[in-house]
Parts: sequence; C-alpha cells; structure tokens
Amino acid sequence: MSMPDVMKNLRLPLIGSPLFIISTPDLVVAQCKAGVVGSFPALNAREKDGQSLDEWFTRIKDQLDRHDEENPDRPAAPFAVNHIVHKSNARLERDVELSVKHKVPIWITSLGAQEWVYEAAHSCGAIVLHDVINDWFAHKAIEKGADGLVAVAAGAGGHAGALSPLALIQEIREWFDGPLFLSGAIARGDSILASMAMGADGGYAGTAFIATNEANAVDRYKQMITESGASDIVYSDLFTGVWGNYLKPSIAAAGMDPDALERSDPSKMNFAEDREKPKSWKEIWGSGQGISAVKETVPVADLVDRLEREFVAAQARLTAQLQAV
Ligand SMILES: Cc1cc2nc3c(=O)[nH]c(=O)nc-3n(C[C@H](O)[C@H](O)[C@H](O)COP(=O)(O)O)c2cc1C
Repeated sequence: MSMPDVMKNLRLPLIGSPLFIISTPDLVVAQCKAGVVGSFPALNAREKDGQSLDEWFTRIKDQLDRHDEENPDRPAAPFAVNHIVHKSNARLERDVELSVKHKVPIWITSLGAQEWVYEAAHSCGAIVLHDVINDWFAHKAIEKGADGLVAVAAGAGGHAGALSPLALIQEIREWFDGPLFLSGAIARGDSILASMAMGADGGYAGTAFIATNEANAVDRYKQMITESGASDIVYSDLFTGVWGNYLKPSIAAAGMDPDALERSDPSKMNFAEDREKPKSWKEIWGSGQGISAVKETVPVADLVDRLEREFVAAQARLTAQLQAV
C-alpha cells in the first residue's frame, strides 16, 4: 500500500481530522500521544483572541518531544496542520510561512488546490494531503502537486461529499496509487479496517473525537453526539454555503425546522479568521453519521484504546470469515 513514510509507525492507520474551533493543542497532543495523527486548522489559533499559531506549533512540538523522551518504546504519532485554501482566508500566506518555519510534517489542505502551497510544504520536507469530495477534485489536486488525498464521502461531519465511500475510493484508486485516507462516519475500529479493505491506506475521523475530554466543545454538544444516531443528522448548505452534516437537535434548539431548511447563497462563503456565525447559528453543531458508536465522552486515550480493540477484533473476525468462504 502507500502509507507515507512519516506515518509508518502509527498505532492505528488513522488521522484525527481537523475540526474548526474544536481542535486545539490539547486535543492534537492527546491524539498524537495515543498513537494516531492529530491535526488542527491553523485558523483555530484565533489571533484576535490573543492566541498565536507560532506559539501553538512550539507548544505541540515541545510536548511531543517530551513524550518521546519519556516513552522511547511508544513515540508519539506525527501531527498535521490544516490550511483552508480560499480567497477569504487572508492569513493563508503567513500561516504557510509559519508551517514551513516549524517544519510541520503533514499538511492537510481544504477547498482550493494551489501549487505554491504544495511547493512550500515540500520545501520543508512535509507531505500534503488534499481533501476532496469527488474524483474531479482529486485529479486537480494531484496534478497540482498534492502528495495524497483525503476522500470525504457521504456521512462525514462538517463539510461533506454526497458520494458513497465505496464509489469514491473505487474511482480514485483506478488511477491513483499514492496515500489515500477515507473520511466519513468512521467512529469504530471496524470502519478503519473497512476503509483499508476498500483500498484506502486508513481512516480519517472527526466527530468521534468531539466527544472527548480534550476537545474544545461545550458539554451539551458532546452529550448530543453521545445521544444521537445517523437519522439525527441533516445535510444542508444553509450554514456556510458548502454542503455539510449537522445535528438536527441543535438546529431545532436554534428555532428552525431541520427537515425544512432553505438553500444558501454561495457568495456568502467566508473562511476569514474572524468569521462569525449569525447569532442564531452559533449553536448549530456539525457531526458525521457514525455517532451511534459514540456512547460517552471519554479521554482521547480511552477512545483510541477502544478503536484499537475493535480494529484487532474485526481483523480476527474477518480472517475467520474469509477462511470459511
Ligand atoms: C465540527 C466540525 C468541524 C470541522 N472543521 C473542519 C475544518 O476546519 N477543516 C477541515 O478540513 N475539515 C473540517 N471538518 C471535517 C473533518 O475534518 C472530517 O472530514 C470529518 O469530521 C470526518 O467525518 P466524521 O466527522 O464523520 O468522522 C469538520 C468537521 C466537523 C464535524
């Protein structure tokens, strides 16, 4: 397969995906220490609130270095930064420079595919995974110089595609044999194994990490994830101008009917650092469809333990099933 060298020693073939507002250094460090890639959107370091991306990178690297010194037998996984490549992101150039300065080993790019961003990553030895919702965008990203892809299939939390994961991975694997991760509703170890059976190198999971102690989300949000299932999720473009999956109870709590949402105006798309949701949308919460597997809010280490147990059990079960075929 095509697992990138920098990710060869993971405990599980899994990337903890970047989550707007929710992924901060605490979550990223906990994910990496637990043995899976941790990541965060650069824009989460909200400089107008006194946070500094430069300082976040230093803090993450220091904590991971300390972990590695104390635990030479189980070193931390590498971490990743997410850049939103969109004209409304006025910080992109500066954030890219800082990512080069800190030699962040894995970059995840979303929305636009731009050569100069890939070149900057390669200048410091990083690899770039670009997230895509269909095969057309996948071709564009690889042509422009991305090293690998995240296939964001139907059912993913936040901005999501509408294609079946089986169809999306199949189409990309017809021509691309580089690093490929599957995003969408992965919340169990079995699903990580399933992503590999389909042809991906591993999984990419966001929502499951929202219901952890280290996630920067309010308790009611975490609780709603633990109490909800796939039919509590609605796919809408109303809230950001891009299609995504949201928790219906949070929409109802904001006074709207989740089953009768209007369409949005795409020209309103805004990914600036200081983007604010309209007041009534503040508590509209993103979530993928895989949440029935998330029963309680736990430390990241416990979640990754569960995923590993399930991954190992699924391997054994599958091996027995295949022998019986
Ligand atoms: C609340 C929330 C915020 C997200 N924010 C971002 C983001 O800032 N950048 C990004 O590339 N993806 C973002 N995503 C998408 C995730 O990185 C990932 O594709 C998705 O969570 C995977 O599906 P899952 O939630 O079913 O595991 C977000 C997802 C959620 C649920």
